[in-house]
Amino acid sequence: MPFAPLLLAVLGEIAAVAPFRNMLTPGGQRMSVAMTNCGAVGWVTDRKGYRYERLDPETGRPWPPLPDGLIELAQRAAVEAGFPAFRPDVCLINRYEPGARMSLHQDRDERDLSAPIVSVSLGLGATFLFGGLKRSDRPYRLPLSHGDVLVWGGEKRLAYHGVAPVADGCHESVGRMRINLTLRHAL
Ligand code: SIN
Ligand code: FE2
Repeated sequence: MPFAPLLLAVLGEIAAVAPFRNMLTPGGQRMSVAMTNCGAVGWVTDRKGYRYERLDPETGRPWPPLPDGLIELAQRAAVEAGFPAFRPDVCLINRYEPGARMSLHQDRDERDLSAPIVSVSLGLGATFLFGGLKRSDRPYRLPLSHGDVLVWGGEKRLAYHGVAPVADGCHESVGRMRINLTLRHAL
């Protein structure tokens, strides 16, 4: 993956400013996935709900800027998938340790749902669950591994999706974790 070493270096810089943290769901559950963000706003959740915030609630400071290289990578993937006008302004970064999972949900906190989601996976592999527009629709199981880039949008933009518990292992360059970056147009 030609872009992976650069991405990993950039992630280290981002996490030094906006550390990974396990946020609370509105229902009060601690998420198993640790998260941070870069960009004009960042996705957060706590007792008050899901939303985008301009300041990192942990530090009180703006999120680190979205690196140009990441914008270009996401735009190239979006063009290939048929979304030539994609202009990402935020990147949510998820860190899964073995056993961490993400239950089925829709990404619906972004203002303009005509923009796709571009998702980049690094490190340990995982099974991505890609469902339908109803939570009860049986999800398709898609294996994702280091360097995979997935784009979804259009009539699938509000598809329920999630990640099955990550199996234990050690990736040669990322270690004992899976990292996922989702680039979005949120504002
Ligand atoms: C997400 O839905 O934000 C997570 C996607 C993933 O980790 O692959
Ligand atoms: Fe999501």
